[in-house]
Amino acid sequence: MQIGIPQESKQQETRVAATPKSVAQLIKLGYEVLVEGGAGAHAAFPDADYVQAGAKIGNRAEVWASDIVVKINEPTSAEIAAMKKGSYLISLIGAPRNPELLEKLAAAGITVLAMDSVPRISRAQSLDVISSMANIGGYKAVIEAANVFGSFFTGQVTAAGKVPPAKVFVSGAGVAGLAAVGTASSLGAIVRATDIRAEVAEQVESLGAEFVGVEAESQKSSDGYAKEASEDYAAAAARMYAEQAKDVDIIITTALIPGRPAPRLITKEMVATMKPGSVIVDMAAEAGGNVEGSVPDKIVTTENDVKIIGYTDLPGRLPTQASQLFSQNIVNLIKLITPEKNGELTLDLDDVVQRGMLVADKGEVTWPPPEVKVSAAPSAGPSAIPSATTASAAQREALVPASKETKKPLDKRFTYALLAVCALALLALFTITPIQLVSGFLVFALSVVIGFYVIGNVAHSLHTPLMSVTNAISGIIIVGCLAGMTFIDEAVPAFGGANLPILILSVLGILLASINVFGGFAVTQRMLKMFKKGGE
Ligand code: NAI
Repeated sequence: MQIGIPQESKQQETRVAATPKSVAQLIKLGYEVLVEGGAGAHAAFPDADYVQAGAKIGNRAEVWASDIVVKINEPTSAEIAAMKKGSYLISLIGAPRNPELLEKLAAAGITVLAMDSVPRISRAQSLDVISSMANIGGYKAVIEAANVFGSFFTGQVTAAGKVPPAKVFVSGAGVAGLAAVGTASSLGAIVRATDIRAEVAEQVESLGAEFVGVEAESQKSSDGYAKEASEDYAAAAARMYAEQAKDVDIIITTALIPGRPAPRLITKEMVATMKPGSVIVDMAAEAGGNVEGSVPDKIVTTENDVKIIGYTDLPGRLPTQASQLFSQNIVNLIKLITPEKNGELTLDLDDVVQRGMLVADKGEVTWPPPEVKVSAAPSAGPSAIPSATTASAAQREALVPASKETKKPLDKRFTYALLAVCALALLALFTITPIQLVSGFLVFALSVVIGFYVIGNVAHSLHTPLMSVTNAISGIIIVGCLAGMTFIDEAVPAFGGANLPILILSVLGILLASINVFGGFAVTQRMLKMFKKGGE
């Protein structure tokens, strides 16, 4: 089958749905790829690179007549008219707000997979363009804020005096919010964040920011999405926002409840209390705005010199990166629907992911799909987010299939009984242990307790340096074991005087410590590779 990649017709769209790299991957799956001349020009992908990757360059009409058309934005009526009956369209559709478009596509006999209708389940993460774009949007929101902010983000001590770090406050710690938190932290700002779902506090903290809660009953989610705020909560939240507005330099708002207008969080009065030169980025400007006074696609400067940025095309302002991520999501989808890798698209409607994305098929509108049940298990254990770039994956990790059982906390009585059994076992061990080893055992038991509490409380962001320390400790263990192996007891004639239990323990000790040392090196090597340029 032939995949057509048209040039985007939406004004100011800079992205393209395929890059030379993704074209090569599509060809490997057995497809022919036809790219409209100049389609990747705004994203720095010249036609020649597509040709080198194996694509053909065609004109608009040829591309739209392909078996499968892959693009970013929803098609216009003229574009739908240029498509073949029975062909496939893969793009953003905006199904909830576009019932007429769905009717038109169905009437034209086009089968449509909507990239913005990917169900929010772990298995579908690799196709989730909404998360990919929100991740870029959160990053770019911070960069846009830094661009109009008159000072450093990071604090500095210069010969001329001290410069305090900027204070950044992020509202909504979903995909975009967490990306903004990570980016602002890495620029050296003091970052705080809030969310209606108190369960995301740990994710915020793992990115080096402080979670600011609302002193009212928190809004627990049962399905991974936030619930609408109660009146009590809204009043307490308003007090918290008023306090933050007075204190911080930058506010980035990303709060959203799917299917509803954006909640109004920052009022004109709060903006009026901000310091001159402060910046607000309202990422929800298109959905009605979290900030009173924000205007979609404009920068508004208030009387007290606060700039409110309402850009709605933040991912498109990073066109190369946005195209790369979008096209990778597309390749992952095409892999899913080309199980035989034979260049033939095969839909499996028993698969919730494919069914969830299918919005028109065989002349019928097939949206909304049957509901997919997900539950956001309140985190059963710490979930680390090593960097902003993985925020989207981590966010999705909170969404586990409903079938997965949530871990129940241990019963207190059971815990005490377990502790008592351990204490008795330890006591029994002491009574049979030769007296000269008792002090060694005591040190060992104390080390276990202290180690448990110290390591358990190390911030997620410090896990890598902690790994180096454990490698050093493993080195000491190996030296100890080697010393143990050379221990000769004249009273034991077997094994040339070596004590068998000590020998076995030493060999085991060396083996386990080596796993830690070499495993640590392997993991570190893999992490370092991520920061190296290709070929180096
Ligand atoms: P998301 O659903 O992953 O995150 C939204 C977060 O807001 C959730 O964590 C939710 O709990 C929180 N929230 C909801 N109501 C709240 C309230 N009253 N107070 C505090 N937190 C609240 O959504 P995602 O993907 O992070 O997108 C965020 C927003 O950014 C959306 O409005 C989206 O349309 C917008 N966006 C804008 C872009 C632009 O170019 N301007 C680009 C990409 C996304």
